[in-house]
Amino acid sequence: MKVVTSLPKEQPVLRRAGPMDIVAIDKCNRELLPENYPLSFYREFFDSPSCANFVVLDKTTGNLIGYVLSKAGVRLRTKDDKSGSVSGIEGHIYSLAVHSNHRRKGYARALMNAVENDLCQRYPALVFISLHVRDSNMSARQFYRSCNYVRVQIVKNYYGDEHGVLMKKIFRR
Ligand SMILES: CC(C)(COP(=O)(O)OP(=O)(O)OC[C@H]1O[C@@H](n2cnc3c(N)ncnc32)[C@H](O)[C@@H]1OP(=O)(O)O)[C@@H](O)C(=O)NCCC(=O)NCCS
Repeated sequence: MKVVTSLPKEQPVLRRAGPMDIVAIDKCNRELLPENYPLSFYREFFDSPSCANFVVLDKTTGNLIGYVLSKAGVRLRTKDDKSGSVSGIEGHIYSLAVHSNHRRKGYARALMNAVENDLCQRYPALVFISLHVRDSNMSARQFYRSCNYVRVQIVKNYYGDEHGVLMKKIFRR
């Protein structure tokens, strides 16, 4: 009898996410984050060309390891500008998670790099990418710092039950 001495190695694949990933992304999101969304929220991310969504999968099993959902939008010259004068493009990370048993292997970093490269390539006028993170989520805050996102401000009660930290990475001034 052949004795199996080691389990097959994980073979991660990073690719652009599509509507066929919605169920797995929703499951992962519900398992790992308190902010959950209706399926219509996810569909919007796959209908709009300004979105940049990526997944990491285990090639052997096809299981989802992690995902990121992001979107680009126009940036107005001033916040209350009624003329709609556009000064560039801004990106926003809406959701990011990596399953607990696959952490500290660089998957979230790879997902963030994929978003940044994609948005920078498609939108040369990209000014910054921003995101919100729970004040108490120190590991995610530390992760984003390691990707060169800096804290901009605390948004009081952003999550209803907790303050959010707005973080940004500048790409051009
Ligand atoms: C935050 C999260 C996405 C990081 O995923 P990950 O794949 O483990 O991150 P990476 O392996 O790419 O980490 C890259 C670097 O980020 C930093 N980092 C990541 N996790 C960290 C932690 N728990 N504590 C401190 N630093 C951390 C480290 O500098 C790390 O590099 P190193 O491993 O060489 O030290 C993951 O912990 C997660 O899914 N958390 C739950 C969901 C969540 O909070 N999402 C963010 C919501 S805003």
